[in-house]
Order: sequence, then structure tokens, then C-alpha cells
Amino acid sequence: MKLIDGKKIAENIRMEIKTEVARLIDDDDKTPHLAAVIVGEDPASQTYVAGKEKACKSVGFQSSVYKLPENTSEKELLEIIMFLNKDTEVDGFIVQLPLPGHISEEKVIQSINPSKDVDGFHPANLGRMISGLPAYLPATPYGIVQLLERYNIETEGKHCVVLGRSNIVGTPVSILLSRKASPGNCTVTVCHSKTKNIKEWSASADILIAAIGQTEFVTADMVKDNAVVIDVGIHRVPSTETKSGFRLKGDVKFDEVAKKCSYITPVPGGVGPMTITGLLQNTLKAYKKEIYG
Ligand code: GUN
Repeated sequence: MKLIDGKKIAENIRMEIKTEVARLIDDDDKTPHLAAVIVGEDPASQTYVAGKEKACKSVGFQSSVYKLPENTSEKELLEIIMFLNKDTEVDGFIVQLPLPGHISEEKVIQSINPSKDVDGFHPANLGRMISGLPAYLPATPYGIVQLLERYNIETEGKHCVVLGRSNIVGTPVSILLSRKASPGNCTVTVCHSKTKNIKEWSASADILIAAIGQTEFVTADMVKDNAVVIDVGIHRVPSTETKSGFRLKGDVKFDEVAKKCSYITPVPGGVGPMTITGLLQNTLKAYKKEIYG
């Protein structure tokens, strides 16, 4: 079994970005600038946004965060998005999800200018991705594809089973891995809450992507010998062994599944660091006007 070290790959890519940024700002004194909008006090969202700010600093990007109270109206949020759409100082921005229940996520995502949508959630970017056109790829699927690529994991002709069909991970990664590309060219099965015999599908996977959002859902009996297992889950579970009082677990029961795999991503240190890296890569593309000219 080989551990896929997402932390190391993410660091390597961030070094590449840092070097490129240093070179680019020699020619142009403006630095790439990522903005994030967060509504409310959700602790996981606050942690993600703080991680994004830290990552920006580490590669020489400028970052700014708009922290809005829980009771912000949809109209007020849309006004801030309109402002960021026009702000020439900002290359790309994200609105952290989930949003409070009184705000329509769909409306918010659709109001973002696709050329600044570095999350890749706008229908224009999803449509471009499906058509094989240059697009901002959603950060987690982008990170997963890069892990497969950098570990030289063969995907062509393989059966890839994706557990979960979210707009953020399951659906886009299923599209990326089935496209005519490398990595890609997989036969992809998407399993979800209505799938019958999920264990059998899962156990038939050469590449298993667990993005189902349930702690340690994938057990050893659900994994084929020598499968490649990519764990997208991040769950805080109480622990008496850590100072913080919790530890992170994934969607995969790591200890028993790892023994059967050819490759596996750990949690933490697998897919997680690659997600923020994907966002940095998209922001650099926005700065260079690579997708929309
Ligand atoms: N919430 C969980 N993951 C993400 C993400 O990648 N982007 C945004 N905007 N919100 C999220």
C-alpha cells in the first residue's frame, strides 16, 4: 500500500505557484488577489476561509475576506457580489457555502461573473468543463485529478466508482474522470442515497472516490484488493487524545481499508490540502486571464 501524500503534492504545487507569481509581479506590480465572502459563524466554514487566507499569503497572493452577519439579506449579499464582479483589484472570489437558509445558493452562484468564479460553480464554468473547453475546475475534483496525475496512476479503461453526487465533488469528478483525457478515460459509476447494492458497486471499483459525507462509511468489505481509494470526507469527531478535543476522520475506515489498497489518501493530509491548492491555481488563471481572455 502506498500513501498518497496530498500535503506534499500541495506544497510542491504551491512552490511552483510562488515562483511563477514572483516572476509575474516583476513585470506587473499587481499581485493575484482572491476574495472570500462568508456569511454567519459556521465553524467549519470559518476554518476553511482562514485556511484559504493563509494559503494565499504563502504563495504571495493578496487576499481579502468579507465577513457578513448571519442575518445578512440575500439582496445585501447580491450587492456585494455585484461590487466584487466589477472590482478591478480582485481577480477571483468565492462565496463560502453553505449559506444560511434564507439565502438561495443557486441565485448567489449564478450572480457571480463566470470570469471571477474561481470555485468553478457557475453553470457557465460547469458547462465549459462538460464541453471540454478551458474552465475553472471545481477545486476538489481538480485536486483529485492532479493527485492521480502526479502519482502516475493509470486511469484509462479503469472502473471508477464515485460515492456521492454533490455539485461540488461527486458530479464534477465523475465528469472529469470519464472525459477523453489523461487522467480520464475511465468507465464511471456514480452511487448515491438511492443506489441499490452500494457495497457491490463499491467493491467492483478499480478507483474508488468516497465523497458521501458519512464518517467511515467505506469498510474493508466494500473495497477490491489493490484498488486506489480517494477519501474526500472531512469529519471532526470527539477525541480524548488530542489537545483540541477532536480529530479528523474521512468517509473511509482507513485502518482496515488501507491494508487492501494499492494507493490511498489519508485524512488529514490527502485531498484536503489539494482543494485549497486548486483554488490558488484557479486564481492564478484568473489573474493571467487564461480562461476568459
Ligand atoms: N464549502 C465546502 N467546500 C467549499 C468550496 O470548495 N467552496 C465554497 N465556496 N464553499 C465550500
